[in-house]
Amino acid sequence: MTRQLFVTTALPYANGKFHIGHIMEYIQADVWVRFQRMQGHQVHFVGADDAHGAPIMIAAEKAGKTPQQFVADIAAGRKEYLDGFHIGFDNWHSTDGIENHELAQAIYLGLRKNELIDVRSIEQFYDPDKGMFLPDRFIKGECPKCGAKDQYGDSCESCGAVYTPTELKNPYSALSGATPVLRSSDHYFFKLSDARCADFLQQWTHDAERLQPEVLNKIKEWFTKDENGQGGLGDWDISRDAPYFGIEIPDAPGKYFYVWLDAPIGYLASLKNYFDKGGPRAKYGETRSYDEFIADPAVEQYHFIGKDITYFHTLFWPAMLHFSGRKTPNNVFVHGFITVNGGEKMSKSRGTGIDPLKYLSLGMNPEWLRYYIAAKLNSHVEDVDFNPDDFIARVNSDLVGKYINIASRAAGFIARRFGGRLSGDLGVEGRTLLDTLRAHRDAVTQLYESREYGKALREIMALADRVNEYVDANKPWEIAKQAGQDAVLQDVCSVCIEAFRLLTIYLKPVLPALAAQVEAFLQIEPLDFKAADRALGAHAIGNYQHLMQRVDPKLLEALFEAPSAPEPEKVIPGGEDIAPEIKIDDFAKVDLRIARIVKAEAVEGSTKLLRLTLDAGEGRMRNVFSGIASAYQPTDLEGKLTVMVANLAPRKMKFGLSEGMVLAASHADEKANPGIFVLEPFPGAQPGMRVR
Ligand code: 2FM
Ligand code: ZN
Repeated sequence: MTRQLFVTTALPYANGKFHIGHIMEYIQADVWVRFQRMQGHQVHFVGADDAHGAPIMIAAEKAGKTPQQFVADIAAGRKEYLDGFHIGFDNWHSTDGIENHELAQAIYLGLRKNELIDVRSIEQFYDPDKGMFLPDRFIKGECPKCGAKDQYGDSCESCGAVYTPTELKNPYSALSGATPVLRSSDHYFFKLSDARCADFLQQWTHDAERLQPEVLNKIKEWFTKDENGQGGLGDWDISRDAPYFGIEIPDAPGKYFYVWLDAPIGYLASLKNYFDKGGPRAKYGETRSYDEFIADPAVEQYHFIGKDITYFHTLFWPAMLHFSGRKTPNNVFVHGFITVNGGEKMSKSRGTGIDPLKYLSLGMNPEWLRYYIAAKLNSHVEDVDFNPDDFIARVNSDLVGKYINIASRAAGFIARRFGGRLSGDLGVEGRTLLDTLRAHRDAVTQLYESREYGKALREIMALADRVNEYVDANKPWEIAKQAGQDAVLQDVCSVCIEAFRLLTIYLKPVLPALAAQVEAFLQIEPLDFKAADRALGAHAIGNYQHLMQRVDPKLLEALFEAPSAPEPEKVIPGGEDIAPEIKIDDFAKVDLRIARIVKAEAVEGSTKLLRLTLDAGEGRMRNVFSGIASAYQPTDLEGKLTVMVANLAPRKMKFGLSEGMVLAASHADEKANPGIFVLEPFPGAQPGMRVR
């Protein structure tokens, strides 16, 4: 029976490039999708950018772009990664697309009709300068437990304490520096605490051994209330106040859906967009509309995600779908994180991360990474460690040493001695070997289906070992030297080529580009799993072209090399060289004092000068002329503190006596780099204090 599958990966936030973690997830899903198609099933595999939310809105503002433009620029960079690693999404869309606006609103209205939406007033920190409510991560302050400064609103990086933003001491807005104020506003809640939700989720999560055991365990924890009645499923705050980059809530002016409400709906939106563009019709002759397709009980829906977002996908998401009258996912496949070198946290600056584009630009084969990651993946929520030595060993010894070598050892003889023609009769030993390879098809199939890629590849490499044993036992290079042994040589090499073809079928979900090269070299139709039943027979193959290089360890060194810091250019600070060295005594001769600018006035007859009345704590005022009129209005200055040279010999000027000098910064070339900046001390300094 032909299955119909709808498969997604988590939608990446549209405020950053892909990192190796994204690529790992996409490889995991892509292998599964390719495998399913090789079984003859129909698959729609879609992704999208997760466009909404405060962080993206704020990042866009910083970049001087509209959020739409900002997100579009990020989206434009996706193709390079996806094509580069042979990740074959059928469609890539955005959660800001029209489909998502419509679907999110429809789903919300479905929940509301079911009386699962509640409105309550809640108090939150508000940034009076920015005019917006602050998300937790944009509130900072001192940790209420250990007093560490500059900690985020939810937890302390210094002592690990977890708290709410209102517990922070001396809180400030990370956006403006302003002190946030508590303000209340109406929020919309999805009533997950409703008994109907709890009942439904209990059932959905336990149904048919759907979820991975470790995921189910986590969910049990989430369901459980502690002895204080805390924990358990709480209502979910799904609204945010304007300004917010998101989707408007119907009948609620100024309210938007929290990004996590509309993000998973983006899966459906991307699928709908794909249907509306006619993709499924072109690919599979699909005649149903999106609505008909997604409602069909025969259609299976799967989401590949990372372990950090399990909660959203196994609780909120099925509940949203179910209570808005929609079909729920068949399963959510959760994977762990990718670490580098035994769990070292990845960091770009320390050079321990893997930059996917750097990998490609070094000319490293994307299928090495696909193979390596697949070899490390299983069906559990385990972290995957990238170890450079292990990478080299698996690619060079297994992939090239065991598999590719089979073809390279046999193909030359077939081309040179037999005009590319294989023999139809392979001999008993050869047939037995090939039967063994074919007999493992179901086992390999089962392992791919259950996402046990590591086991699948081990199984396939064990088969490659058998083929190599056959080659070593029959030694075609020696047969080739013996007179009258042509038929034997042709048989042995034909067995190798047939075995290579079978192994290629099994590896194709992981190595699609390599498989396409093999298909061209063997002059055969695209391989699927059924092709294992057939044999090449007396078929003519093309010339062997080298299929895959070994990894040069130098490439891995280059990959992990931290980007070298640019050579510092010789710059002349502020446009002039630093003055010749002086001794501390020289400096001490200059008496610098804090002074308050009591009064500032324009000077008639001068466009450059301001007349300042300064109080340096001497019990008298000083009159100082300062060439700062181009930069300041008198009112900008009055009342401010500054620094003055207090022991400069008084100077008689056209407009009167100047009894000191105010300090200000400027570029040597003021024409090219305009601006004069009067010095102001940190708060707390008092007039008369000496500056030293
Ligand atoms: O964690 C993340 O990166 C989210 N952008 C994932 C969203 S998945 C889905 F819900 F869209
Ligand atoms: Zn702390």
